[in-house]
Amino acid sequence: MTSTIQYDPAAALAAIPSCQFSAAAEAMNSARRAVLQDVDLYRSGGEVSADKAPLDAGFIEWPDRLLEDMKVNGPDSLIAQIERSADRIRQLADSVVVLGIGGSYMGMRAMFEALCDPCHNELAREARNNIPRIYFEGWNVDSDHQTSLLNLLKYRAQQEGNDSVTGRTAVVVISKSGGTLETAAAFRNFRQFIETQFPEDVQDLIVPVTGDSGRLYDLSTDAGFKDVFSIPDGIGGRFSVLTAVGLLPAAIAGVNIRRLLQGAADMTAHFHDAEFGHNTVLNYTALGHLLERDHGCTTRVLSTWGCRLEAVGLWYDQLLSESLGKQEVGATPLTGVNTRDLHSRGQQHQEGRRDKLITNLLPGTPRQKPIGIPNRSDDFDQLNQFSNLDLPTVLHAAINGTNQAYADDRRPTADLILPTIDEHVLGQLFQHLMLATVVEGKLIGVNPYGQPGVEAYKTNMNAILRTQTQNS
Ligand code: PA5
Repeated sequence: MTSTIQYDPAAALAAIPSCQFSAAAEAMNSARRAVLQDVDLYRSGGEVSADKAPLDAGFIEWPDRLLEDMKVNGPDSLIAQIERSADRIRQLADSVVVLGIGGSYMGMRAMFEALCDPCHNELAREARNNIPRIYFEGWNVDSDHQTSLLNLLKYRAQQEGNDSVTGRTAVVVISKSGGTLETAAAFRNFRQFIETQFPEDVQDLIVPVTGDSGRLYDLSTDAGFKDVFSIPDGIGGRFSVLTAVGLLPAAIAGVNIRRLLQGAADMTAHFHDAEFGHNTVLNYTALGHLLERDHGCTTRVLSTWGCRLEAVGLWYDQLLSESLGKQEVGATPLTGVNTRDLHSRGQQHQEGRRDKLITNLLPGTPRQKPIGIPNRSDDFDQLNQFSNLDLPTVLHAAINGTNQAYADDRRPTADLILPTIDEHVLGQLFQHLMLATVVEGKLIGVNPYGQPGVEAYKTNMNAILRTQTQNS
């Protein structure tokens, strides 16, 4: 079995035979060339024209750079520093709160859900291999959510003792700009909690990840936290999952970050070298683009077959929306989880508007030994007929049955096939989807970096808050 992810557009091309897929080779090769020229420009530090600014092409070579740094600098490399810091946090605290929003949150959430045990936080410490429980905050302004978590952590400190590992909490606060209100407000509360509960260990228990300037950077310099990690310039928030933004919390959660980076580096090499027709990134991008441009498929459904991949889909929703949803263009992404959503969105996907490309994200072999359907002496539910089958077999029947139903009605589907869900595969998948997004930017004439539209709500929110403060 291959350990690389595969892409199969055949079902979509059969459903819409007029799609000019093979004729797209020249346009796709030229879009790839333009992306690689941006990498050269970024690397050279040359002048960036207004239509290319900001040029955040740094993510493309970043995994290779980190792996090379590790080879050359060994224990002084960034990877080694991240791993040491993660080890230190694991030994100090059994609960870790990761604060961040958007690109400073969704990638780590995707890794946690894909790679950690689905019941991770409920397991006893030994069953988690001493890996802390991981919580996410600062991605909303939800008073109840924040209060409940603070109460839980306080209770744990009181029950277990605030000088014991099991009673202690650490905080990783992530913000590239350092000024995002949601994260900053949550950080105030969690910092105060750490200062109150563990006054001796504040500098050890808080680890900021931020840009090289800004409010969080200044605050960190002033507070003297033991470890502070930098988010490099030239890598935008939603492209930063493989920087310390994702790597530090992932390493704390026991993820093998070297394999993750290797997967991404392998995907970059494949993107660089493989011909259109054999290049998963170019093939994936071409199909989505052509179906949108020529056949009205403006909605891209990422149909994830398994609970582990939902957060990967949500990460991708952000990536596609913020990168290409500009100048009144850009496809609309939608993440589904099947078979759950066959009982909700399925009806619309089968018989609604013909405006969708459905990409199945197939999870490959399960990470744990498959469970079956037990045989019973009573058979009221009539499931004994399937009791020699395991759940992956049932899932395959659902996948094939659904694809067949779409094909019968000429609804376009394609398959993004993961051999399994592990670090190497997830690294490939992240890089595949980031590369596909910037290639599509070239095809539709949109700069995928920056997110000017997000500023409007922030400006309004801050103005409203200031008025309220003045009136109170
Ligand atoms: O992609 C982006 O740049 C954004 O989604 C940011 O990640 C998000 O707004 C959070 O920003 P920051 O990391 O500066 O707090």
